[in-house]
Amino acid sequence: MTDMDPGTYYDEFAEGEWERLDRDPVTRMEFENTTDYLAEFLPDSGRVLDAGGGPGRYTCWLAERGYEVEHCDLSAEQVAIAREKVAERGLGDRATCQRGDLRDLPFADDAFDAVCCLGGPLSHVVDDAERADAMAELRRVARGGHASEASEAASRESAGAPAFVSVIGRFAMLRDVVQFSLEDAHGLLAPIAEDGDYTAERVEKLGSGEGWAECHGFRADEFEAELEDAGFDVDRLVGLENVATRTKRELADADEAALDDVREVVRTLREDRTAVDFSEHMLAVCRA
Ligand SMILES: C[S@@+](CC[C@H](N)C(=O)[O-])C[C@H]1O[C@@H](n2cnc3c(N)ncnc32)[C@H](O)[C@@H]1O
Repeated sequence: MTDMDPGTYYDEFAEGEWERLDRDPVTRMEFENTTDYLAEFLPDSGRVLDAGGGPGRYTCWLAERGYEVEHCDLSAEQVAIAREKVAERGLGDRATCQRGDLRDLPFADDAFDAVCCLGGPLSHVVDDAERADAMAELRRVARGGHASEASEAASRESAGAPAFVSVIGRFAMLRDVVQFSLEDAHGLLAPIAEDGDYTAERVEKLGSGEGWAECHGFRADEFEAELEDAGFDVDRLVGLENVATRTKRELADADEAALDDVREVVRTLREDRTAVDFSEHMLAVCRA
């Protein structure tokens, strides 16, 4: 059986994770749609957290725009790659990368003017209680999110820092099983549909024994409710790939005009609730 621990998985996946967001038209849509919202809702300047930042694509994007960025990730290999990418671009004076776990972030209360947790890190915290802790941690370190009585009162008066959180969609996970591993792993469909959890135990019992990193696939309503339980105000949910979900092969040979039309319809539909629900990744734009 493969090791489905997220830290180990991303250590081994290494540079592949840097390539991910520029690998094909669909992953580029994830990046482009995410950065559209960052550009619109980030403050003009300040200190930004990139939690579960992996190889540092967003860290570099943020530092290139003048933000002071703190990156952290569970995987030592991903932290090493992020440091390299930051150094190659001459961004070392604006971005710091370190190991850190979402469930116990190594930062002070109210430390950041904006918080990012993008591309699915929270989906890899499969245990419900641990995921609630991780969401509470993201809010704690965001300006205005630390839950003392004084700061609760202050944050009611002035909006807290923005938070940008994206996770993996449950329907897209189910499509993966149907599309790529139906023969070996159809037994996983019913339990994932029920609670979203893709775990080592289930893959051992109901699948082929070979698996990807453990993961929780979200429904849109569930994602919003969990963020609200952690104290975030959710401004909007965005389906980052929506109708283009899992169309990498179909789009590989598409000409530019066709691709432009696909990108345009994804942009048009990206805040439609149904499009959010069946997207590979859903982004929440929130306030702490
Ligand atoms: C799909 S990658 C996304 C990386 C990056 N944010 C991006 O979008 O390119 C998910 C990342 O979450 C990290 N991760 C998973 N569980 C984590 C945890 N508990 N704390 C911190 N990082 C975690 C993994 O190591 C991995 O680098």
